[in-house]
Amino acid sequence: MTDAAKVIKKKTNGFAPKVGIVLGSGLGGFADAVEDAHVIGYEELDGFPPSGVHGHASRLVLGRVGQTDVAVCQGRAHYYEHGNPAAMKEVVRTLKAIGCETLILTNAAGSLLEEAQPGAVIMLNDHINLTGVSPLFNETGNSRFVDMVDAYDPSIRTKLETIAKDNGITLHQGVYAWFCGPHFETAAEIRMAKTLGADAVGMSTVPEVILAREASMKVAAMSIVTNMAAGMSTTALSHEQTMDNAAEGAAKVQTLITALLEGSLS
Ligand code: HPA
Repeated sequence: MTDAAKVIKKKTNGFAPKVGIVLGSGLGGFADAVEDAHVIGYEELDGFPPSGVHGHASRLVLGRVGQTDVAVCQGRAHYYEHGNPAAMKEVVRTLKAIGCETLILTNAAGSLLEEAQPGAVIMLNDHINLTGVSPLFNETGNSRFVDMVDAYDPSIRTKLETIAKDNGITLHQGVYAWFCGPHFETAAEIRMAKTLGADAVGMSTVPEVILAREASMKVAAMSIVTNMAAGMSTTALSHEQTMDNAAEGAAKVQTLITALLEGSLS
């Protein structure tokens, strides 16, 4: 058990959430939907990152959504902050240690799909790691050789498709390409990513997916489209634009996750 997991167990009287959720830029509001919430600041949890990005709080919210006990991470660390691809290692391992069997990841992303404009949601069905780094560098033992096929759990994806239909939400699907950031991509890089099969681009999520799969957790991930990827629109890319456009997609993602948690995840 990680030190952070011990602190959480002590502060919550042994609360054992089944699902961990990481909220990306603009998605912080989801934490307000957690009932009987117990909030722990990241500063109390060893290895949890004080996030430096505007739009991210730094706290863990433990409680219930629907019938499901959850641990919601409001704020994540990014590779681009300190050049550390393992920046989310303690967070993911702590979620696993306190009981989470599933990890739901959200992020803001640029879209390479003409049909997925700002405000749309893209459910990830695979990824391409363009950074050349792994959160499992320096690990020893055989568990580091993680099978990444079907990393994005097919049965949860099917559930989310059904929930989206039932709620009248258009849920796009695609491959997420992880760029290191913090600069945005060039137009040429986006053309390359398109050729390679990417549908969305972003600066997060992939390290958490790798860490979660190493820990045998099921993974689901959704991107809120905050902008068309570089070179695909005349609007200049900026973090302000990301935050301004996040709300519409965030509302959809909140509906999808809430409905997912009201059903059974197993
Ligand atoms: N590229 C990378 N990361 C992002 C983008 C983008 O276009 N939009 C939001 N996060």
